[in-house]
Amino acid sequence: FLFFFSTFLKAESFAVATRHHLATDIGMKVLEEGGNAVDAAIAVAFALAVVNPSAGNLGGGGFMLIHLAKTDETLSIDYRERAPAKSFEKMFQDDSGKVLKGLSLNSILASGVPGTVSGMFFVSERFGTKNIKNLINPSIKLAKEGFVLSDFQAKNLNKYKQKFLRNKEAKKIFTRPNGFSKGDILIQKNLASTLEKIQRNGKEEFYSGDTANKIANFFQTNGGILSLIDLNKYKIRMLKPVCGNYRNYDICSMAPPSSGGVALIQMLNILENIDLSKLDHNSEEYLKILISAMDYAYNDRAKFLGDPEFFKVPQDLLISKKYADEIYLKIQEKKLPSKVNVKIIEGEETTHFSIVDKWGNAVSNTYTLNTAYGSGIIPTGTGILMNNEMDDFSSKPGYPNAYGLIGSEANKIEPKKTPLSSMSPVIVFRDNEPYLITGSPGGSTIITSVLQEILNVLDFQMSLEESSKKSRIHFQHLPNVLFHEQLDESLIESLKKEKKLIKRKLGENHSILIKEDTVEAFSDKRRPDGKASSVYK
Ligand code: GLY
Repeated sequence: FLFFFSTFLKAESFAVATRHHLATDIGMKVLEEGGNAVDAAIAVAFALAVVNPSAGNLGGGGFMLIHLAKTDETLSIDYRERAPAKSFEKMFQDDSGKVLKGLSLNSILASGVPGTVSGMFFVSERFGTKNIKNLINPSIKLAKEGFVLSDFQAKNLNKYKQKFLRNKEAKKIFTRPNGFSKGDILIQKNLASTLEKIQRNGKEEFYSGDTANKIANFFQTNGGILSLIDLNKYKIRMLKPVCGNYRNYDICSMAPPSSGGVALIQMLNILENIDLSKLDHNSEEYLKILISAMDYAYNDRAKFLGDPEFFKVPQDLLISKKYADEIYLKIQEKKLPSKVNVKIIEGEETTHFSIVDKWGNAVSNTYTLNTAYGSGIIPTGTGILMNNEMDDFSSKPGYPNAYGLIGSEANKIEPKKTPLSSMSPVIVFRDNEPYLITGSPGGSTIITSVLQEILNVLDFQMSLEESSKKSRIHFQHLPNVLFHEQLDESLIESLKKEKKLIKRKLGENHSILIKEDTVEAFSDKRRPDGKASSVYK
């Protein structure tokens, strides 16, 4: 009886965790009014494009993982950017083969063909229950009437002023002569009218309508290669999620072109060889085994991961228990993959949200413009910030991208190809039901932040709030630098013997944990403005 009772209660609960409180409120309202998790996700995604312009977007792309309770299916949608048809392997190199710094980040060549609008309309048609027009309404209002900037947002916009000054429309919207201050209202009139047209004309507005023409004309007249045909031909992909099991749990995440799912399952498989719960959390022994698992997984990431339509990713091997056991053996024998030193520059953008509805459906969504505010380029009249996702390709094998990640042949630039990503939306299942829904921004640090959230909850039984307060580490094979947030001095002294240590803030998880007697939603406090709401019945 008790079991039935608790399951019944759980089934009536719902929750939303996002990067911005206004987006969370919008998502909760959709759920309260009887929409499902996918409806809420669409409303949240459009809202974040307005209130979280550094990463929320119409001009970017992402991955959505959906669990459908009724059919017990878990699906994933790849609505990430594709390389324009005119792109080519050496497009960011000069004649001597030198990579032209910044071209893949800040120039008119930096953008892939955006997928967000297509992705939202696809999931609405396939899995939604509410009219998408109504789900876009709150975003139009926010863009038209404006919203109040937080202190963090005002400062963040000021920080990127130089980026905005290079584009006429970005300058007008996102800069002020004396900078923004907390409490200023940010109005985005052109974005509001673009959203209204999308609402009226559907996704065609973005891919073949007036907005598509504006985007294509802007790129053409400014020396870009992204064309109207690229927009016309954009297609989302439904991909089989990559799933594995870890102790008593099943875990699904995003398959290639994300490296997230594969690396995550690979690390979990390695770590399954020891009972982590017997170790002290963040003790030297614990951190060392984590670092080794990260070392091997990021080494394989660089060698083997790319768009599976262009490169045969040995996914089955990488996520097999046998392969992980072999790596674990090497770790025990203190064998390391070889090292090369490269410089690293880290970004902290991208945004994740988690949603569950009262029927037990779950959405785990990560989407992005790549670095903060993407390329900073807005095609005139659209209000749409364009992505700089072309930087996620390897401009040259051996040359690091903005996140310091080395790419190889697997991730070289090819027309229509999708750049490799680290975005790792995750759903963890317990007894076949969604248990933990999580994900994070943070470029290459996404995967390790998500890993540590999973370990904290599954192995150390932490609440989401406790987990978020724990210092995280990040190691990515190259360079030989251990990033950490706040390790004890004695630990730092000891770890310093093997690696350079750099202190920095790592990923920020927006997660939901569905327990038998409660639903915990938590929005990471590493940055302000986020909000998590849950209704537990
Ligand atoms: N642009 C960040 C990522 O896709 O991982």
